[in-house]
Amino acid sequence: MWKTIEVDTSVGPVGAIISGVDLSEELDEEVVSEIHQAWLKHHIVFFRDQDLTPPQQAAFGELFGELDTYPFMKSVDSHPNVIPIIKEPETKINFGGAWHTDSSYKEVPPKATLLYAIEVPQNGGDTLFANATAAYQDLSDGMKSTFGEMKGVFTPKMVHGSGGSYDKKEMKKELGPSYGGNEEFAESEVEHPLMRTHGETGNKSIYCSKPHTHRIKGWSHEESHSIFSFLTKHLTQEKYVTQFKWEKGSLAMWDNRCVFHNALNDYPGERRHMHRVTIKGERPI
Ligand code: SIN
Repeated sequence: MWKTIEVDTSVGPVGAIISGVDLSEELDEEVVSEIHQAWLKHHIVFFRDQDLTPPQQAAFGELFGELDTYPFMKSVDSHPNVIPIIKEPETKINFGGAWHTDSSYKEVPPKATLLYAIEVPQNGGDTLFANATAAYQDLSDGMKSTFGEMKGVFTPKMVHGSGGSYDKKEMKKELGPSYGGNEEFAESEVEHPLMRTHGETGNKSIYCSKPHTHRIKGWSHEESHSIFSFLTKHLTQEKYVTQFKWEKGSLAMWDNRCVFHNALNDYPGERRHMHRVTIKGERPI
């Protein structure tokens, strides 16, 4: 089926490892098109043994759409769309350590995230990825029709707002001076469907998450979170989840419209340094 790339799906229930491509080089249209097709089919594509500067990582991302910006982290000096995600050996909190899809609190959330490993711990620091389309498909018809038509109120405030889990002072110490800013946006709310339809494949996926969805529209936070807890437990069953072991030079590109992820925080005393790029998506429907 693939002419220009090799695609190995043995990594787990979601995602595929692509080989035979050097992402630092200018890629032929056919290669880009096959990577795009593999990404839509498998939801995440992983590459090993890459050697990318921030501008090269950004240039690869730009092949799939306009680059996005992240509201709560300053970019690296060499590119405005590349943010550093660093956990120092002495820090405790990690960035992205809960099941979520990236920036789903934005009016137009990013469709893709490209995470590139600069330095990884010897043990641990894996990222878990869950297939939210397969998990949606396995819900009962009753659950699909009841929640499929409902909206959620999405917000950054439970993580980045005042009193949120990334308490500003603590996180500045933990994540470094790059973290912070956009205090007003951190309290904002936007409505999105609880289950969204993918803009390119038309497939439906679970979209609401505990860190980013404050409530179901018209419901209380507590009532809503018992539903979100159920959905998170459902979608993170082993049969939907791939655990990706990073190596220096690995790059993962995941589709935030149909994949949840969770960065494991199990490497005390070790350093982990990643670079992240996001690509603009479409308004969720
Ligand atoms: C993120 O949530 O974007 C970070 C994931 C990771 O560091 O593995």
